[in-house]
Amino acid sequence: MKLFSKRNLLLLSALSVGWTVAQTSLPATPPQVAAPAETLNDPIFPGLGQAGLDVRHYDLSLTVERPGTPEFYGSVTLTLASTRPLGEIRLDFLGPTVNAVRWNGMGVPFRTDAALQKLIATLPAPLVPGQEARLTVVYGGRPGVVLDPGFSTPLQLGWQSVPAADGRAGANFTLSEPNGTHTFLPSNDHPSDKASFTTRVTVPEGFTAAASGVEGPVTTGSGTRTFTFTQTRPIPTYALGIHVNRFDRVTAPAVPVGVNGSPVARRDYFPVGTPGNVRAVYDRTERALRVLSEWFGPYPFAAYGVALVTPRLPALETATLSTIPPNLATERTAVHELAHQWFGNDLSPATWADVWLSEGFATYAELLWAEALGENGQAVAARWYDGQVRGGTRPLVATREAQLFDRSAYQRGALALHALRAAVGDDAFRAFLRAHVARFSGGTLGTADFLAFSRTQTGERGEAALRMWVESPTLPALPVMAGR
Ligand code: ARG
Ligand code: ZN
Repeated sequence: MKLFSKRNLLLLSALSVGWTVAQTSLPATPPQVAAPAETLNDPIFPGLGQAGLDVRHYDLSLTVERPGTPEFYGSVTLTLASTRPLGEIRLDFLGPTVNAVRWNGMGVPFRTDAALQKLIATLPAPLVPGQEARLTVVYGGRPGVVLDPGFSTPLQLGWQSVPAADGRAGANFTLSEPNGTHTFLPSNDHPSDKASFTTRVTVPEGFTAAASGVEGPVTTGSGTRTFTFTQTRPIPTYALGIHVNRFDRVTAPAVPVGVNGSPVARRDYFPVGTPGNVRAVYDRTERALRVLSEWFGPYPFAAYGVALVTPRLPALETATLSTIPPNLATERTAVHELAHQWFGNDLSPATWADVWLSEGFATYAELLWAEALGENGQAVAARWYDGQVRGGTRPLVATREAQLFDRSAYQRGALALHALRAAVGDDAFRAFLRAHVARFSGGTLGTADFLAFSRTQTGERGEAALRMWVESPTLPALPVMAGR
């Protein structure tokens, strides 16, 4: 799904201008299919995505025969459309061997390019705006390796394999933000092209699969079980979560905090053997859903819970099912990942340079939660401020990969929101948060969209407070809420 973000409109108008010129100077020449190699020109990851491609749905079927080993096989059918004529489809992909590519059911030529991390399919006739088509990829083997160099020890993104050890079963899961999804899924792997997902995972008997979305019926084969999940509301590709492990699936009563008070289903997946004190961290999920939806408005998805994993990694807000490593099984991280369901998954960054919008809001939710528990929010903000003083600071729009998840993205991002709150007061701040979510829900937004919208809601005063925190190369003064 693609919204008419400013950037897309610019692309479209540039395209139509180009066409007018071409048609007046060369009237006899039919319009050419757009230059094939155009990516989405992300400022941080310029190679990602295909300009003009709009993937609406991914229907994915995976089989994991030996959990804990990297290999799997399967197929995916993408429902796609375009905003300009496309003679080939160039998906991001650095995954297992591709055995076949079909276009509306018919085999078509394809090639993979490991240097570009692309799977390129040549179409029998260009896909033009207004058409919808299905592209199927049949593949299997070992996923590719995409590293996050900014993490303390280089972190392998995408499909994870955890070998069996110490009486623990082997496991697999996804941990993809920012650009790891294409290690296991041929995709338009950029948050500006959100899509819905159907995920079917076949695992050996005794194992459980979990994925983003609502679980459908489980079917059994000879020695296998197949689990199906439907993620109806569009999410960015990095937010697709898939897990295979020996799990206890623990349900809790639904919480009526969805749109118009609709119920949000609750289920958590704990690896068998997870101690009670770790499980207990998630006892207050219902309360957190209630507290955050008071500030942000209705919870956007049909379900929520966590899936715990065993390696020490960053946590990730995989849609409807946050992925939590043992070192981050804390209430604070629980609330942070829950807040990302709104900020990140439902309202997504237009480019990777804008990811502070996700991290700043999710971090601010930690302060809102502390206040709900009767703690002093201003003291939380003061600690973040101290971290910026000691550790350094930067304007919020990221200019390189190492900044995406640094302390400024999280804590200076949160302080920007605190500055807005201090400038306009609690009631206007709450009204702003809810209006902002309502305005961009289901879509994508960049930093400029955010500032422009803040002006319409909170006036010059609110926008100026935010803008200083977004743009100043130095650290603005600590915002202090009146009367605290
Ligand atoms: N969005 C995640 C969180 O804060 C962090 C992801 C970090 N990813 C990374 N590749 N370092 O919840
Ligand atoms: Zn985060």
